[in-house]
Amino acid sequence: MFSKLFSHFSYNLGLDLGTANTQLYEQKKGLVINWPTVIAVNTRNDQILSVGKRAEAMSGKTPPYIQVIKPIDHGVISDFEITEKLIKLSINKIQQKTFNFSPRPVIFASLPLGVTEVEKKSVEDVAIQSGARTVYLIEQPMAAAIGARLSIKEPVGNFIVEMGAGLTQIAVISLEGIVTSKSLPIAGQSFNNNIILHIREKFNLLLGNQVAEEIKIKIGNALLIDQQETQKMKIKGQDLLTGLPKEISIIDKQINEAMQPTLKIITEAIKDSIELVPASLTADIYERGIVLSGGSSLLKNLDKLISQQCGVPVHLIDDPATAVIRGLGYIIEDFDNLKNVIVPSACD
Ligand SMILES: Nc1ncnc2c1ncn2[C@@H]1O[C@H](COP(=O)(O)OP(=O)(O)OP(=O)(O)O)[C@@H](O)[C@H]1O
Ligand SMILES: [Mg+2]
Repeated sequence: MFSKLFSHFSYNLGLDLGTANTQLYEQKKGLVINWPTVIAVNTRNDQILSVGKRAEAMSGKTPPYIQVIKPIDHGVISDFEITEKLIKLSINKIQQKTFNFSPRPVIFASLPLGVTEVEKKSVEDVAIQSGARTVYLIEQPMAAAIGARLSIKEPVGNFIVEMGAGLTQIAVISLEGIVTSKSLPIAGQSFNNNIILHIREKFNLLLGNQVAEEIKIKIGNALLIDQQETQKMKIKGQDLLTGLPKEISIIDKQINEAMQPTLKIITEAIKDSIELVPASLTADIYERGIVLSGGSSLLKNLDKLISQQCGVPVHLIDDPATAVIRGLGYIIEDFDNLKNVIVPSACD
């Protein structure tokens, strides 16, 4: 009774602090903030100039006294103060619309797999410093599995691969717990780095990260299938020999070749993880397959490549880039049913 009354009055938020994107879920409202994890600061007076997309667009184009900062590195907080500012700004933005006063929220924050106790405490501390009354932590692949509506409470093996910008997290979930897992600091950003390196080596052309991102989204393809029509694209960069701007044409085959190092590491890690699944759950994995989530799972034909390399069916969920935050939302809305997935605090 008391817990019902308490939950009625508490103000609950879900927070997914990603390497590339920060998302906030507000109880009974849904996804209310979804912006790049980027802040632009004037270092002369510490003033915040912009956040999210506007800050990202400033990257590489600023005078020396303006810094464009990405405070999350491979899923982990690398700049505590800037992360705190980003969370405060996100919360202020939604509270301005909702309240005349500002209640202190309970924050349900996602936690990357395999972080140290210090990194875990840092997530709790930053949420508290940003105004949270209490913080609950949920591991990202668990949140993604709940977001994907997998039967995490059943005694069956749910194999999920959550691939963001800085991390690929592989987990097998059964009976509300993570049975085996692996986390790699290799994901969407690695594809961009592969593309930048390849174009520099083959064409003596220097690309910015945003151009590499556009290339990946437009003609990136993890598995070229014979009958497919060749995808082409014109790109602009800086000629390393002359220092002048130059335009070249590239095709999907070249980008597929460029991305091979990252594709190999990821498919090998998934294969290894399948081998490590306890025998009692192996049959489930072959029957039910692998579920792919996270923004990088949108890379064209990545599901087909993993399925071909690992010999297991692969399912790409709907709207994979919001799986984690949707999962946090389900936990908030159905707390009594899902509270067992909350991990112990670093202070316990
Ligand atoms: N259509 C697409 N094709 C390929 N990659 C994509 C596509 N759309 C988004 N991405 C990639 O998804 C990544 C962002 O995904 P997401 O928002 O899940 O990451 P994140 O949560 O910020 O990072 P992490 O969980 O690793 O800390 C970026 O690297 C982006 O390039
Ligand atoms: Mg993420």
